[in-house]
Amino acid sequence: MSAPPPAKKAKGDDGAPVHDDEIKSRDFTAKQEEERGILHFRQVQNDGTPEGLRWLCELKEIFGTQLPSMPKEYIVRLVFDKNHKSVCAIKNIGGVQQAVGGICYRPYYKEKLGEIAFCAIKTDQQVRGYGTRLMNQTKHFACTVDKLDHFVTYADNFAIGYFKKQGFHMQMSMYPDRWKPHIKDYEGATVMECYINPNIDYLDIPAMIARQRKVVQDKVASLTRHDIIQPGLAAFKNGAKKIELHEIPGVQQGGFSYEAHLAGGGALTERESNETMLAQTLQEIFTNIEKSEHAWPFTEPVRPEDVPDYYNVIKDPMDLSKIKEKLNNGLYKTKEMFVADINLMCDNCKTYNPPDTIFYKTAIDIHRVCDEEMRRLGLA
Ligand code: ACO
Repeated sequence: MSAPPPAKKAKGDDGAPVHDDEIKSRDFTAKQEEERGILHFRQVQNDGTPEGLRWLCELKEIFGTQLPSMPKEYIVRLVFDKNHKSVCAIKNIGGVQQAVGGICYRPYYKEKLGEIAFCAIKTDQQVRGYGTRLMNQTKHFACTVDKLDHFVTYADNFAIGYFKKQGFHMQMSMYPDRWKPHIKDYEGATVMECYINPNIDYLDIPAMIARQRKVVQDKVASLTRHDIIQPGLAAFKNGAKKIELHEIPGVQQGGFSYEAHLAGGGALTERESNETMLAQTLQEIFTNIEKSEHAWPFTEPVRPEDVPDYYNVIKDPMDLSKIKEKLNNGLYKTKEMFVADINLMCDNCKTYNPPDTIFYKTAIDIHRVCDEEMRRLGLA
């Protein structure tokens, strides 16, 4: 299995370069071609229909050529196996519909898991975004039709870069019982996993991102007056030595209340200012823990559907989303309260998972990150 080195610039179907500022996502060109009726994708299976068999035959040829290290008989067996499904990229080339690539996968419905067996685009059609569009289409079918929420694949080492760009990673977050019994080990390939989020429209990611950006921008605009440029201070030019806080243009519009300021004695009490400083420091420590490469198993509560007996063992669960909520609600009045929750989260992980697992090791790592951050910011 080998892939040619990826080129950087995409070209449209007519060979015209696509300008950088037009590129909204990797599959932009492919999506446009779909809209123009040049390209389309369909889910096919060995259902005995001449139509299904035709596309499977073309896919078998593409996989055979593009994945030369795979035995031909193995490709044929899986592509025509009734338990496997394929998503076929079909292009109108000179008036003839032809398969230009595809992904063959096996859905495990009970585990909500799909194993990608083969993925390829014809050589002369590569690096146009078709591989990305194909993966997005496959995620769409897998999510909406097959109701899967994860893909696993053994990626050829040359193709790891491609899979990474499609949202796959090498750290398996699923509990081994869920995937290991089904997925065959391949020598010389790397196992990778991808979460398929049912809330994402994989066929129109740029539109989704644009909507998210607008929501964030509107929220920022509603909370701040950042767009208003104040005239600046004239008082000092006129000889003033001191002015009141509320006289500074923009301060009152920014939410400062002169009455509240006076009622509070004009300044924060020492206790209030200590609490504010502690909250800010804990927030910084938390952000760095959350950003750390070891945080991935702790970001959300363990899902009972992934680990059915987890809550029989762990009676006081804790995770980063819960800690974040407590931080945001100002519930950590001392650093010890914060550290206790981090310890609880790590101890739970070490209680449930054996010491030779990646989860146990990440618990040690996250604990170390917390210690280092506490020391760095003078809270140790
Ligand atoms: N290594 C690193 N990056 C890659 C590779 C690669 N082998 N192939 C593509 N990319 C990059 C592209 O440069 C592009 O990134 P960019 O947008 O930042 O420039 C991105 O991945 C997606 O490119 P597309 O144009 O959408 O992908 P393409 O249509 O070229 O298809 C594919 C990619 C399917 C890997 C194709 O190159 C291919 O068929 N290769 C030969 C077969 C193969 O290796 N298949 C995977 C084997 S593993 C398995 O089947 C389970």
